[in-house]
Amino acid sequence: MTEHENKTAKLLVHLGITRPEELTALFADLRGRFDADCACAQDETSWKQFRDAWLGRKSGVLTQITDNWLKPAGAELKRAVGAALNELRAHVESRIEARRLAIESGSEESALARERVDLSLPGVIRPIGSHHLIRQVFQEIEDIFFSIGFSIVEGPEIETPYYNFEALNIPEFHPVRDDMDTFYLELPKGAKPPLLLRTHTSPMQIRTMEKQKPPVRVIVPGKVYRRDNPDATHSFAFHQIEGLAVDTDITFCDFTGTIEYFVKQFFGPSVKTRFRPSYFPFTEPSVEFDVSCPFCGGTGTSTASRSPMETSASGTCSKCKGAAWIELFGAGMVDPAVYGFVNYDAKKVSGFAFGIGIDRLAMLKYGIDDIQVFFQNDVRFLRQFP
Ligand code: DAH
Repeated sequence: MTEHENKTAKLLVHLGITRPEELTALFADLRGRFDADCACAQDETSWKQFRDAWLGRKSGVLTQITDNWLKPAGAELKRAVGAALNELRAHVESRIEARRLAIESGSEESALARERVDLSLPGVIRPIGSHHLIRQVFQEIEDIFFSIGFSIVEGPEIETPYYNFEALNIPEFHPVRDDMDTFYLELPKGAKPPLLLRTHTSPMQIRTMEKQKPPVRVIVPGKVYRRDNPDATHSFAFHQIEGLAVDTDITFCDFTGTIEYFVKQFFGPSVKTRFRPSYFPFTEPSVEFDVSCPFCGGTGTSTASRSPMETSASGTCSKCKGAAWIELFGAGMVDPAVYGFVNYDAKKVSGFAFGIGIDRLAMLKYGIDDIQVFFQNDVRFLRQFP
């Protein structure tokens, strides 16, 4: 652009032009420069620079021609400069507009090319999730009890002390509350009653019996909370399944038969079961249910164990520590005192209840030695149980 810029910055007299004929070459030269510039404007930015260089009001080439060539020209030259300038202006304007359209449609074309969908490309693979192992164990246990006539109910994780303790025959200063020293919720001052995170699923025994007359046969899967310090076998949140069966003629035999059936379905037919006397305020008698150690086949020694991982160097089974039995869960016949809280006639009805710790059962069945892995949700762990 330098040459015609220089020329249009000068007056015609300084270029030595005095006669109209001499204008022809001058304008032809300008037009040639314009056409060359025009071809260089390939995108929006360079096109704008190019347009301003030629049509800019203050210092565009056409303005310079008007100011430096047309206005100062004498009458004779003026008419010819005017005519040539008009012709050049028409050419410049139409070519600049044509160039704009060309650039626009060109960018549309390249956008189309860019956005074209290639159906032959491989798709996005979205990994399919699976149920958490705890959920799977819940499901297994629910299926077993469902198949023998139990239904499944769920209850609130935020409870009142009445349902969590009192109605289960655990009065305020009863020592078993120490084990369940728990999380109370902060409530606005004066609000009643106090609320706590349930420490077990047993409150649903009461809620179910309040709502429904016997016969009752339910299991209650759910999350429970205790003020426990986390270690390999403790967590402040864990999972239980409560069971409750109440009817007019339920005996201790029904109770043990049901539990044994469940344990054999869950661990396999070869395990043996036993129960030991225990104590819970809401059952009488109360028992603790044990299963013969599924890892050493109930021998207590390492010889029959499934893998070297499950044995210790000393030859005793590392899972049951040589005891041959593993404690599974607490249970018992419903204490008649409990019926008093739900308006059941303790003389006419009887039943049994149990509370199974799911995390513990899952750890036993799947050989997991740290309860914390259930809550860490490391996918490398979760993927092992698809
Ligand atoms: N609720 C008891 C606990 O969390 C477990 C339990 C024991 C539940 C005996 C029962 C039962 O229903 O009969 O420690």
